[in-house]
Order: sequence, then C-alpha cells, then structure tokens
Amino acid sequence: MNLADLNKVALAMVTPGKGILAADESSGTIKKRFDAIKVESTEENRRDYREMLFRSTEAMSKYVSGVILYDETIWQNAKDGTPLVKLIEQSGAIPGIKVDEGTQALPQCPGELVTIGLDKLAERLKKYYERGARFAKWRAVIDIGSGIPTQTAIHVNAHALARYAALCQAAQIVPIVEPEVLMDGDHDIERCYDVTQRVLNKTFQELRVQRVELEGMVLKPNMAISGKKCGKQASVEEVAEKTVRLLKACVPAAVPGIAFLSGGQSDEEATAHLNAMNRIGGLPWRLTFSYGRALQAAPQKAWSGKAENVAAGQRAFTHRARMNALASKGEWDTGQEKKVA
Ligand code: 13P
Repeated sequence: MNLADLNKVALAMVTPGKGILAADESSGTIKKRFDAIKVESTEENRRDYREMLFRSTEAMSKYVSGVILYDETIWQNAKDGTPLVKLIEQSGAIPGIKVDEGTQALPQCPGELVTIGLDKLAERLKKYYERGARFAKWRAVIDIGSGIPTQTAIHVNAHALARYAALCQAAQIVPIVEPEVLMDGDHDIERCYDVTQRVLNKTFQELRVQRVELEGMVLKPNMAISGKKCGKQASVEEVAEKTVRLLKACVPAAVPGIAFLSGGQSDEEATAHLNAMNRIGGLPWRLTFSYGRALQAAPQKAWSGKAENVAAGQRAFTHRARMNALASKGEWDTGQEKKVA
C-alpha cells in the first residue's frame, strides 16, 4: 500500500467547492427511481440517464470530485462507444465503485440487517482498479426502532466495514466507510445522536483493530437529524450544531474528509444542513456531500426518459451540484437557489 497516494486521492475527493455524486443505485433502487418518473428500467435507459449526468460538463468539471458507480455502469460504454469511466476521467472527476452486495437479515436479530460482499472482494477490487476506480463504497444500514439497534448489529456491521476498508487499501483503493443510521423512524434528534455515536465509535474501534490507515479513507455518515415521522423536527441550526458536536466526539482528525449521505432529506434541506455546518468552521476535516437522491431527484424529473429533455436534465443537475458546492464552502443561501447559472 502506498499511503501517500491514498491520502492524495482522499483529499481530492473532498476538495473544497466539490463533492461526490453517488450514482451507484443498485438495479432494484434505480428501478424505484425510474418507476417514479414512469421510465422503464432497461440497461439502455440506465446507461442513457447516467451518460446524461456524466456529460454535464460544467457540473462534472467544476463541482464534482468523484462519482460512485454501480457494477453495471463501470463496464458500460456511452452511446458513441466511449467507456462511461472515461467520460468521468475526462471531466476531471475520479471514478469510484460501490462494492458491497446489499444486505441480508442478521440471524438472532429480528428486523436488523448486515451488509454482505466480502467473499472474493480482493479479486473484484483488482478488476475495478484496472478499469479506473480509485475509490470504493460500502454501506452498512442501521435502523432505529423499538429495541433496535442491538449492539450485535452495530458490531457485525462495523467489523464488515473495517474488513472491506482494509482490503481496499491493500488494493490501492480509497474506501468510503459508510455506516448509515436511517432517518425513517419517529425518533427524535437526540436518539439519532446517541445511536450514531455508538455506531461511529464502534466503527472507528474496528478500523483501528484491523489496521486501516485513517489518512487513506473518507467517512460517509448520516447527519444527526430527527426521524422523518418525528413530530418535532429539529431546525437547520440544531442539525448542524449537533452533527458537528457528534463528529468532533467520534471522528479522529487524521481522517481527511467527511462526505455526507442525504438519506431522504429534501434537496434544499440537504444543502442547507451542509452549509450551516461549514459556516461553523474550525473543523479538523473537510465536510462535503456524497449525495444520491439530493443531487438526482431534480434531474430525474426534468429528464423523464426523453431524449429532448437531456439539456433540461443537465441544467437541473448542474444547479443542484452548484448549490451543494457552495454549501461545501459555507457560501450558500436561499437566494442562490433562484439564480439560474
Ligand atoms: P442518498 O444521498 O440518496 O442517501 O444516497 C447516498 C448513498 O450513496 C447511499 O449509500
């Protein structure tokens, strides 16, 4: 492993004014997104949609540091035969790859999941590196509910995340370590804070045990936020203040950067929260976005599967990417939302 090179890639992924496009929806998830805009989820439509994003020259070259791809996409070519990975590289962004293989029920822990995909991961990483991937992603899912999460679910998921991260670094690939505490329940922000603290502490403990080099990774956490069904929704300022406090308590300064998931927040909420955190300032790591839904909901709607809407889809994507890029520097405000570039 060459740690200096891993660190260089990790820092590039969290360049101020840029962030990561999570375009790694599995076939099941992208079908759900396409169903919502009445587009059939065929291999060609998935390719056309993602090609539209990667050919958004302004967004990709100015605001996007890296793109997380799904296995199908990393092997696909654009309509003119150019590998999609090449389009990303030509824009100046770094190609990345989701390497987990989804979740399975965790034995003895009703309602809880463990992320799978460690078998043969070393061989798969080698092929992804040859194709151009310089970073990877693995997502653990922790749900909050009555009696959950158990310490068992937190432990096994942290263990798998650390196993994955160590294998990535051995393959000269920067691991994005993503322990996601879901915001689906009716829990309040304090409960989210407490659970996320347990999850992050366990994750960093496992990363240490398995000798993962913190300078060569990026953390992708959820924010401390109220559950979607909670009657009392925390303000933007409270989310920002609590998330920063939580991260300071749990994330070593050796980690180069933190790139948040959006997790079901509205587009503008995700931007406002990131912006408010960066306004607080004085943090040991860079804070940016690694959004899926909060970057893609608008372009998906604008595109709606029609070739004649490609320019509109690209405009919508560029706008959201620019808003989040401003937020990554604490320079966003609602007035910017109305200014169309
Ligand atoms: P969302 O921003 O839609 O949560 O997706 C980010 C991601 O990569 C989840 O694994």
